[in-house]
Amino acid sequence: MKSAATKHQEIADIIWNKEEKPGCFRIGLTCSKDYANAIPGQFITLHIPGNLSPLLRRPFSIHRLIKKSGRVIGIELLYKVVGGFTEKLARINAGDQLDLIGPIGKGFTISNTTRKVAFVAGGIGVAPLIFLADAMVETDINLSDSIVFLGGRTSDDILCASVFTSFALDVHTTTDDGSLGEKGIVTQPLEKWLASNRPDIIYACGPMPMLRAVADIAKKNSLPCEVSIETIMACGIGACLGCAVNKNKQTDTYQHVCIDGPVFDASVMKNYLWS
Ligand SMILES: Cc1cc2nc3c(=O)[nH]c(=O)nc-3n(C[C@H](O)[C@H](O)[C@H](O)COP(=O)(O)OP(=O)(O)OC[C@H]3O[C@@H](n4cnc5c(N)ncnc54)[C@H](O)[C@@H]3O)c2cc1C
Ligand code: FES
Repeated sequence: MKSAATKHQEIADIIWNKEEKPGCFRIGLTCSKDYANAIPGQFITLHIPGNLSPLLRRPFSIHRLIKKSGRVIGIELLYKVVGGFTEKLARINAGDQLDLIGPIGKGFTISNTTRKVAFVAGGIGVAPLIFLADAMVETDINLSDSIVFLGGRTSDDILCASVFTSFALDVHTTTDDGSLGEKGIVTQPLEKWLASNRPDIIYACGPMPMLRAVADIAKKNSLPCEVSIETIMACGIGACLGCAVNKNKQTDTYQHVCIDGPVFDASVMKNYLWS
C-alpha cells in the first residue's frame, strides 16, 4: 500500500487538451514526482494564472497518471464543460500553464484480497474510477471477474468504456434515452447482476441521486461500498464549511468532503446517503 503524497502547489505545463466527446475533454499536465504516490480518488484544484474570474479554485479528480520510462511525469484529468471555469479550461492550449494544488483528500481503499469488484459510474464520475482500475491492475489484482456499469443521459455521457474493456472487464452501459446500451438508469443492471453475483466491494462515483441509490443497494445486499462524493467546494483545504455534509443527524456531526473525503465508506455516511 502506498503512503499518501504530500499536497503542494506548483505551476503545471499543459501537455495536451483534447475534446473526447462533445463538451468533454482530457487534459494532460506536468506535475512533480510526488504524484507517483497519489491515491485513486484523490483530487487536485486548479486556477488559471492571471484570471480573477472565477476566483475560487476548481476541484477535479485525478483520472490517470502520465508516465515516461516508468516515471510519473504528469497527470491527466477528464472534465466536462459546465460553467465559467471549465469553459476557459477548454480553450487552453498545449504549452499554456495552470496553477495546480494536489494531491488532495482521501482516496479509495484497495485490498490485495479483492477479487471481484463492481465499478459504477454516472457520466463524468468515471474519471477517478479509471485511475482506480489502473492502480488495481498495477497491484496485480485480476479484474477479469469484475464488472463495470456506466450510465449517462445520452451516448455522449458514456466515457472510457474501451479503457475498461482493455482490462478484460465486462462493461454494461445504460442511457436515459437509449442512444447507447440499455435504456434506463445504471442501477437497474447493477441490481440484476447482484441477484446472482457477490462482489467484494462496490466502488461508485457520479451524481448524488445515483450515489444514494448505489449506497442503498449495497446496504440491502450487505456489501462494502465506497463512494466518491462531489460537492461544491470553496477553499478545498478544510478551512471553510463549503463542502460539509451531515454524517450523523443525532450527534449533528459533519464531514468535510475536501479533507475527510471525497471517498467515503457508504455505511459511515449513512445519514447522508441511505434513504
Ligand atoms: C472532489 C471533486 C472531484 C471532481 N472531479 C471532477 C472531474 O474529474 N471532472 C469534472 O468534469 N468535474 C469534476 N468535479 C466537478 C467540477 O469541480 C465542477 O464541474 C467545476 O468546479 C465547475 O466549475 P465551472 O466554473 O465550470 O462551473 P460553475 O459555474 O461553478 O458550475 C456550473 C454548474 O455545475 C454545478 N456544479 C459545480 N461544481 C459541482 C460539483 N462539485 N458537484 C455538483 N455540481 C456542481 C453548479 O451548481 C452549476 O450548476 C469534481 C468536483 C469535486 C468536488
Ligand atoms: S471546501 Fe472549504 S472546507 Fe472543504
